[in-house]
Amino acid sequence: MKRNINDLEKLSISDIQSILSRASEFKKIVKGANKVEVLNLKEILCGSKIALCFFENSTRTKMSFEVAAKNLGADTFNLDVQTSSVTKGETLIDTLKVLERYQMDSFIVRHNQSGIINYIDSYFDLPIVNAGDGTHSHPSQALLDLFTLREKFDDLSKVTLTIVGDIIHSRVAKSNLILLNKFGIKTHVFSPATLFPYYLEWSSKIHYMNNWGQVLEESNVIMLLRMQKERMASGYISTESEYHRYFGVNNEILRLVQESGIFLMHPGPVNYGIEILNSANSYQNNLILEQVENGIYVRMAILEYLLSE
Ligand code: CP
Repeated sequence: MKRNINDLEKLSISDIQSILSRASEFKKIVKGANKVEVLNLKEILCGSKIALCFFENSTRTKMSFEVAAKNLGADTFNLDVQTSSVTKGETLIDTLKVLERYQMDSFIVRHNQSGIINYIDSYFDLPIVNAGDGTHSHPSQALLDLFTLREKFDDLSKVTLTIVGDIIHSRVAKSNLILLNKFGIKTHVFSPATLFPYYLEWSSKIHYMNNWGQVLEESNVIMLLRMQKERMASGYISTESEYHRYFGVNNEILRLVQESGIFLMHPGPVNYGIEILNSANSYQNNLILEQVENGIYVRMAILEYLLSE
């Protein structure tokens, strides 16, 4: 049976732990000084062909999957959606069927339709990697977030993490709520009521925070979410400056975060002046760029898990 990481609910804890442990090994090798060890990594997926099919824009996920694949010796092929026959009306499945005939071993797909990866998966025998589908899920981001937390906390039961912001549109939040819960991490949420999905309201595992005071008192990690303006019509927030005042890490909140040594996370890309201020970049417990870098090692481990059988 082909493996997949698309449904974090179904992925076993032992498989997740072995992916994350492998990511740690990859990090040590890639950052280490031993060129032979780095070259040896290229044996792992030597000869594999991986197609990057991004129907929605990306910097981190796309580039880190490509770097990850190349670190393991795979060849990557980018589907340029804007110049492809998709613009002439070719369907998504027909497009991928074409690439399948070019002997691809895996498709890494991002798309703006929620749930579409499971639909694509049913058409193909090769592994389909979910690189983010609409507001539904972003499993590789949640795995790299968990990896980043494991580097900071020896004991994950000591973590209390609050997810702040646009939860309703966030695939990162949905995947993290599943994964963090699976690992027993206490998870809270803090958002305007309009940006919190009603179907999560009854979950006994999610604790809703009413104000920053509560968030700062209870959390040792704050995960900010990007305001997903491209998925909003209107009516979700009054103004960006009002959102920043009540739900953003403004000057006063940043001062309190720094005083308490709380870790700050954000999947990126960041909207400065809305979720957070540029000045937060110099804060030592800001993990945003560590998350970015860890994306490479976790995605190397994911590709090995899916393709090296
Ligand atoms: N976090 C994330 O998915 O970023 P990109 O959209 O740049 O891939």
